[in-house]
Amino acid sequence: MKNLVILISGSGTNLQRIIDCIDNGEIRNVKVNLVIADRECFGLERAEKHNIQTQIIKRGKDFSEKLENAIPENTDLIVLAGFLSILKPEFCKKWEGKMINIHPALLPKFGGKGMWGHHVHNAVIEAEEKESGATVHFVTSGIDEGEIILQGKFDVEENDTAETLAQKVHQIEYDIFPKAIDLVLNK
Ligand code: GAR
Repeated sequence: MKNLVILISGSGTNLQRIIDCIDNGEIRNVKVNLVIADRECFGLERAEKHNIQTQIIKRGKDFSEKLENAIPENTDLIVLAGFLSILKPEFCKKWEGKMINIHPALLPKFGGKGMWGHHVHNAVIEAEEKESGATVHFVTSGIDEGEIILQGKFDVEENDTAETLAQKVHQIEYDIFPKAIDLVLNK
């Protein structure tokens, strides 16, 4: 049985999907040991409902050190599921190959500092992109630059807004995230 730690900042619908896919066997051989959030958020309630241990580590002094200390040594994979804090290069180095992120766009486009959530979708609309989607990738110290594991995409329609894109991207995420986690853990 592999050990997962999931980092979140928000509503945690991807976290919920991961929990459900572990329960229904789409993600094999793994258990979620800990959910860490960098703020109070609804995702923590989702974890607690499933009796998963939770911890809040707020940004500020010693954030990386506290995070480092909170992650059990037996962790096989750290999953960033809508986690909005930037991690220190040393932390990324330590967990290289064992930490993945989901990004709400088709990397390498629309990645990097400040590119999260609605900022990404607004930028996609502004650039009049023909398609958008989501990317699961390994985390390195370069923001959103690590090796791509899986992508899924859809056509952007003329009447799409940042809100409709967010909904469509989430649907893609619910498809590719569990697949990517299973792929990385059980390859
Ligand atoms: C997801 O769309 C995820 O791709 C995005 O935050 C959302 C979290 O939704 N992550 C980023 O923007 C990171 N750069 P959720 O809390 O419902 O899973």
